[in-house]
Amino acid sequence: MPPTLQTSWQRTLATLAAVLACALLAGLAIGHPWPALAIAAIVLLATHLLRLRRIMHRLDARVRLPPPRPGGGVWAGVERLLHRARTEVRGRERRLVEMMRAYRAVATALPDALVVVDRNTQRVIWCNAAADTLLGLNYPRDKGASLAERLQPLPISHLLSAGRHAEPIVDAASPADPAIRISLRLIPYSDALWLLVARDVGKLMRLEQMRRDFVANVSHELRTPLTVVHGYLDMLDPSENEEWEPIINEMRLQSQRMTQLVEDLLALSRLEAQDALDDEDVPMAPMLSTLRREAGALSQGRHEVDVEDAARVDLRGSSRELHSAFSNLVANAVRYTPSGGRISVRFAPDGQGGVALSVADTGYGIPEMHLSRLTERFYRVSSSRTRETGGTGLGLAIVKHVLQLHQARLEIASEVGRGSTFTCRFGAERVVERTKDRDEESDEQQATPQGA
Ligand SMILES: Nc1ncnc2c1ncn2[C@@H]1O[C@H](COP(=O)(O)OP(=O)(O)O)[C@@H](O)[C@H]1O
Ligand SMILES: [Mg+2]
Repeated sequence: MPPTLQTSWQRTLATLAAVLACALLAGLAIGHPWPALAIAAIVLLATHLLRLRRIMHRLDARVRLPPPRPGGGVWAGVERLLHRARTEVRGRERRLVEMMRAYRAVATALPDALVVVDRNTQRVIWCNAAADTLLGLNYPRDKGASLAERLQPLPISHLLSAGRHAEPIVDAASPADPAIRISLRLIPYSDALWLLVARDVGKLMRLEQMRRDFVANVSHELRTPLTVVHGYLDMLDPSENEEWEPIINEMRLQSQRMTQLVEDLLALSRLEAQDALDDEDVPMAPMLSTLRREAGALSQGRHEVDVEDAARVDLRGSSRELHSAFSNLVANAVRYTPSGGRISVRFAPDGQGGVALSVADTGYGIPEMHLSRLTERFYRVSSSRTRETGGTGLGLAIVKHVLQLHQARLEIASEVGRGSTFTCRFGAERVVERTKDRDEESDEQQATPQGA
């Protein structure tokens, strides 16, 4: 058991007193007490200074301190304390290094590629083993290399300049092997460092393709039998047998719903299979007139329909798909608005060079919790109401896909009991000037009374 700090002090003071007392006695014996005392004090001071010097040397040289000697003086105490502090620091360092090694081993073993990037220089600091297969990056070979240069032709500079707000790249060919499909995501995890994560999405993409093909094939195969059933149902005359009338009517309604469902599924499959649409100039004046006519036909005079063309420009895109998206919104507005309500279609500039087509109604509205999920296939707020109104649950999914193919986005605002507004926002690159002829045409059409 090493002596305590207090006993060390006591022992040192005792030695000091004993040496001085001896020197005094010896001095008295030879008749010169003061010089003897002074010599003793100087010797004592020199020994203490020497011990202090030895300790300072050892600390300075950062050598491992030898285990403290079991002596009891104050210097032995200091050595003991220093030894203990050093041992503790070394233990902590060792534990930290072990922990870091374990983390690196985990990161190295991950199947996803991880690349630590310096935020300012955008150069590689470290990457794991999967980065070699997925991105062609190797540590330490590529340490300090420019990330954008090494990962060409991936649009990494785009991702890096967007930083914290970067949209992930969902599907791209790997720069190491074009047969590998990868997704890329940038995670800013500290002020100075970013993490680039790349994942092999080949299997996921193949599954997604299988799902798409399956839905498309099933819908396609259902089309012919449905047409046959539909045809025979049309040939039956319900008035011939009164008992059969409600049954035949119900069968017709259901077969119509099924046909609509199949058509919507096919439309979605067609949209999903495309990366881009054939762009053409879409004259918006006739489009708005058609929407007005369709709303009127669906509403059968139960609603007030109002169409405003404040933008007086046209759109660049696919006429057929845009019409399908807009008419889906108009049909929803009519379906989910009780009689006496008002439906307003407005085509107007957005103040930033783009345009927006909005369909507003004074209908039932949608509770906030459903808004984010409305564009999912078959998602409905209330399935009973949808069934009543004959929807398929695919309309807004179609709208979302069409808008995505036009780099446009859908905004939904709604208040329960007050109504909803669905707005399609198009960027400036989708706006085209309306030619004079078309403008005149539209004036004529606006003048013609139509609608509800
Ligand atoms: N204008 C609207 N007012 C209220 N609810 C709406 C409106 N438009 C869509 N919805 C809700 O969103 C759901 C999804 O719409 P949609 O995809 O077009 O399918 P559906 O075939 O049911 O109309 C609808 O079932 C309905 O609950
Ligand atoms: Mg709908």
